[in-house]
Amino acid sequence: NNRGELRIHESLDELRTDLADYVAELSEASVKERGVFAIALSGGSLIGLMGKLCEAPYNKTVDWSKWYIFWADERVVAKNHADSNYKLAKDGLLSKVPIVPSHVHSINDSVSAEEAAEDYEFVIRQLVKTRVVSVSEISDCPKFDLILLGLGPDGHVASLFPNHSALNEREEWVTFITDSPKPPPERITFTMPVINSASNVALVVTGDSKAESAHLAIDDVGPDCPLIPARMVQPAMGKLVWFLDKLAASKLEES
Ligand code: 6PG
Repeated sequence: NNRGELRIHESLDELRTDLADYVAELSEASVKERGVFAIALSGGSLIGLMGKLCEAPYNKTVDWSKWYIFWADERVVAKNHADSNYKLAKDGLLSKVPIVPSHVHSINDSVSAEEAAEDYEFVIRQLVKTRVVSVSEISDCPKFDLILLGLGPDGHVASLFPNHSALNEREEWVTFITDSPKPPPERITFTMPVINSASNVALVVTGDSKAESAHLAIDDVGPDCPLIPARMVQPAMGKLVWFLDKLAASKLEES
């Protein structure tokens, strides 16, 4: 199947170790090739599942000074708000490893969702110019070294929700929504062309509430099934890897 590599884990602990190994290996390869590692995070359960990166051996072996951090999606709330994906990542990961503060690209939290999306795209454009972020040979989009995504029970990825017009955005790199079905309502998000221009995309999916959407995103379900956002994640030149636990994988046909 062309839906990427499936890594199905017996336990969450095993998944956490595999995910930390994967991120550490991509970081090393990217630093070797480009001198930097441009990684985009999401919110939700993902950050907790990345926790091993703050522990030995990763906390010492990863070249944190070369990391540039972005968000594939962010809630438009103050940076210190409990709903902020930035705060989640800072508390759970970034404050525990020696990241360079100026390499952490969080959103402008003092403007509207529309302006925050524009500002974020501008920031990425500047970093594409200086080659901190590479550029895709085929789409002119930024080519992140790694975009990490979670999966919603409704099939959403980043803040691209089913049947939402943001899903069809083809011009912008970053767009905004003010009616997110998952609270809070105002969010900014990478668009599908940006996700699909990345060198690597990982979808990290755990728990039985995700089993149906994992099935619809991965299996050969045919045209009568709903086309959920996660199914549209198809990196053109990059590599897609799924990290699933047994519960999330329980409805997959081939597992
Ligand atoms: C958010 C996240 C979102 C998340 C998925 C899955 O703002 O909620 O960025 O994209 O990754 O909703 O979240 P869970 O893994 O917690 O289900």
